[in-house]
Amino acid sequence: MKDGALDVVEFLLTTRVYDDERSLDENDLPPRYRKVFWTGGDDEDEPGGIERPLSVTNNTARSATGIERPWDAVSDLMFTERDEFTGSISLSESEMAEEWFLDRADDARIRSNPTLAYYFEGADGIDVEYESAREANRPIQADRVWIDSLLEEYFDDEEEEEMLDLVDIRAPEEIEMTLDDLVLTEDQEAEINKIVKAIEHREYLAKIGLREIGKLLFVGPPGTGKTSSARALAHNLDLPFVEVKLSMITSQYLGETAKNVEKVFEVAKRLSPCILFMDEFDFVAKTRSSDEHAAIKRAVNTLLKSIDDISLIQDDVLLIGATNHPDQLDAAAWRRFDEIVNFPKPDLGMRADILRVITRAMDIDEFDPEGIADLTEGLTGSDLRMVLREAVLDALTEERTTLTQQDLEDAVADFEERDTLKNMDMIEGDHDALVAGGDIGGSSDGGSGHDHSHDH
Ligand SMILES: Nc1ncnc2c1ncn2[C@@H]1O[C@H](COP(=O)(O)OP(=O)(O)OP(=O)(O)O)[C@@H](O)[C@H]1O
Ligand SMILES: [Mg+2]
Repeated sequence: MKDGALDVVEFLLTTRVYDDERSLDENDLPPRYRKVFWTGGDDEDEPGGIERPLSVTNNTARSATGIERPWDAVSDLMFTERDEFTGSISLSESEMAEEWFLDRADDARIRSNPTLAYYFEGADGIDVEYESAREANRPIQADRVWIDSLLEEYFDDEEEEEMLDLVDIRAPEEIEMTLDDLVLTEDQEAEINKIVKAIEHREYLAKIGLREIGKLLFVGPPGTGKTSSARALAHNLDLPFVEVKLSMITSQYLGETAKNVEKVFEVAKRLSPCILFMDEFDFVAKTRSSDEHAAIKRAVNTLLKSIDDISLIQDDVLLIGATNHPDQLDAAAWRRFDEIVNFPKPDLGMRADILRVITRAMDIDEFDPEGIADLTEGLTGSDLRMVLREAVLDALTEERTTLTQQDLEDAVADFEERDTLKNMDMIEGDHDALVAGGDIGGSSDGGSGHDHSHDH
């Protein structure tokens, strides 16, 4: 069998079954296939879709399977043919193709393809269930193409630019962070498990009338994993991630802001199930108390009202707010969240665990995470990442890709020095003076800053 033949035959069989079985829809196609066949909607009410028949050519087969020369891979099989004129590739002998495929494909392959699971369910010697294959398949809402066509539908070119300042939408496939990459407290894990269960059983919750669920507020100092946890949740649950940057509300064309806030919520509802993440939530409270522009106040009021109107149970939207300044939130803001999740600075054990996670792919001689954890009281996960980055870069200046425990200890010392400067920055609030002084760059979240002391 030629390399890739099995993949191409699977693709051919899938398209044929999909064309024949009209009850199947886009959620029955593996994401890598439907991406190829997705067409953006031409008119207003059509958010795009997949049209039958699915046409298989060298091009579509290449994108769907990743095989460089799909026709070459299957051309010597007895049951394939290619139309020289249109370039379309198809199965000339379906039954023979099925037999050939079943002889070679394992159950796992069929299980990851709901269309084929539908077709082969109950066949001799094959242990696959259509329903569970479909459930395990990523829903179309999580695909980038779907998100793009939805945005196109809601925002025309000009509006889109403004709106995209306010919101950032990621498909789960674009999120690299996973829950395995995060070290969480027991309390955080319990909260996350609760929410996973609530999402799983939302129909039940609706039935028993429990609707005030699914609005979380993440509270804690910078760099403690709030944003990362929200993103990881989106990745692990395969949900699109809609991030609203609240401070951007002020930089919008003022008159349009409230309208755009409304649209963001509409988009979230259309994308559902999804996660709607609102960073810098304290911004809401600030604008309510101060004498802000009326248009900004209107936008914030729209925001609060939209939060009230959206629900995990009814709309399948999980709302997560995050703030570094819980003390600035007023009662009206607090009241809107049903669970508060605390993100404290990591304790000794957590720091050691975080160090283990972020060094997973690194080579370190005599690595003693507890030893470094001991030296880094008060540092956050984000700080520890920065320490490791410094250690790696310093070793590279000596052409080393294997680190030593000493490298890490030196990097911690450097970090403390930098941290002192950063704290000055915060107290004085006088950034210019410090920049002129010469040697800090980057925020706690890691810009490209590099101390002078490293440069000689
Ligand atoms: N508990 C943790 N486990 C593993 N990595 C962590 C942890 N906390 C923070 N990090 C790492 O630190 C970096 C910054 O974290 P993140 O952006 O999530 O912090 P944040 O709480 O959202 O901060 P901010 O309040 O400044 O927005 C990320 O790369 C993340 O991986
Ligand atoms: Mg954050």
